[in-house]
Amino acid sequence: MSGVEHQIAIEVRDVVKRFGDHAAVNQVSFRVRQGEFISLLGPSGCGKTTLLRMLGGLEMPDQGTILLSGADVTRIPAYGRNTNMIFQQLALFPHMDVYKNIAYGLKMKGTSKGEIRKSVERVLELVQLPGFGTRKVSQLSGGQAQRIAIARALINQPQVLLLDEPLSALDAQLRLDMQRELKRIQRESGTTFIFVTHDQEEAMNVSDRIGVMRDGVMLQYGTPDEIYERPADRFVAKFIGDTNLLPSRVLGHEGDLTIVETAGEAITVHIGQGQQPSSLRDQGHISIRYEYVRIGSEAEGLRNRLTGVIRDVRYGGTMLRYTIEPDGVSEFPQLTAHVPHFPGKPRFSPGETVTIGWEPQDAVFFI
Ligand SMILES: Nc1ncnc2c1ncn2[C@@H]1O[C@H](COP(=O)(O)OP(=O)(O)OP(=O)(O)O)[C@@H](O)[C@H]1O
Ligand SMILES: [Mg+2]
Repeated sequence: MSGVEHQIAIEVRDVVKRFGDHAAVNQVSFRVRQGEFISLLGPSGCGKTTLLRMLGGLEMPDQGTILLSGADVTRIPAYGRNTNMIFQQLALFPHMDVYKNIAYGLKMKGTSKGEIRKSVERVLELVQLPGFGTRKVSQLSGGQAQRIAIARALINQPQVLLLDEPLSALDAQLRLDMQRELKRIQRESGTTFIFVTHDQEEAMNVSDRIGVMRDGVMLQYGTPDEIYERPADRFVAKFIGDTNLLPSRVLGHEGDLTIVETAGEAITVHIGQGQQPSSLRDQGHISIRYEYVRIGSEAEGLRNRLTGVIRDVRYGGTMLRYTIEPDGVSEFPQLTAHVPHFPGKPRFSPGETVTIGWEPQDAVFFI
């Protein structure tokens, strides 16, 4: 690996953007390495587009600093930066053919005709649409139009490509294909990608790291594994994947682990990333992913165990989905367990009492 791959392409420090008295982006900080694929993920209105526009120089922050390759570009407008943006509403020029659409940026820069021809051919190869130069924009499928938009954005060889929900208009299958395509194009071109989506599965599929946003704040920034296995708070835990959230109370600490009371039992768990070590008696929740919950003999010998009654079983092909009511605690949420299944494996029935268990590292506590 060359040193270049470890260089910091983007550094965002304490950036704030207000519209009136509403902070659309509030004290956001993160770093992106050269050649990384980063997703900004969060519900509608959380500030993803605003943050992306500030990275591209289309919006100026009210506070904070943005560095590109170590240089402060906070006050430098879009045309002075080596970034390129693909907008939420795809905007190819409908009256130009594909070739002219892609060539546009270089033509504006006064690049020679021969250079332009070579570059257009190169990016058409990259998006796997060679020979599409003479097509009209109206003769492209949705996925092809997206790829042409990407080709047009890559022709200037930007250091960073900013993509605002480029796949949201595509149907499910094409979307999956395009996710793979984007990854391939990103790897082959070596460009740093900042990709906005509100689809958690899409973010997990394509990203080296994900920034999870809510109400202008970046709640967590980490690899897909970190975010899934060690969510920083309840919102992240629920937004990414399915999880059981059980009310809990801190009893004490044991090294890295915390002992909490859940459903009348002492349970050993991790503390959520970025959470203060909790004081005694703090009320909060533990999060346990559905597939981390073991039941019956598979739960024997695990450090954390409860008993409960099976209330419902659903067959899901490769797994069974059990709904379980923990014993002896009124108004306690029911637990869901996803248990791997294969033909012939015995299953539990509604009404049966079972042991429920999980390992300390599979549960996270947050206030
Ligand atoms: N030019 C503007 N003037 C005033 N308010 C704005 C402006 N642009 C965005 N906002 C507000 O800032 C907040 C963040 O908007 P933004 O477009 O960044 O959200 P988003 O995460 O991209 O949402 P979506 O997923 O719907 O695209 C919203 O509350 C929005 O109404
Ligand atoms: Mg947006």
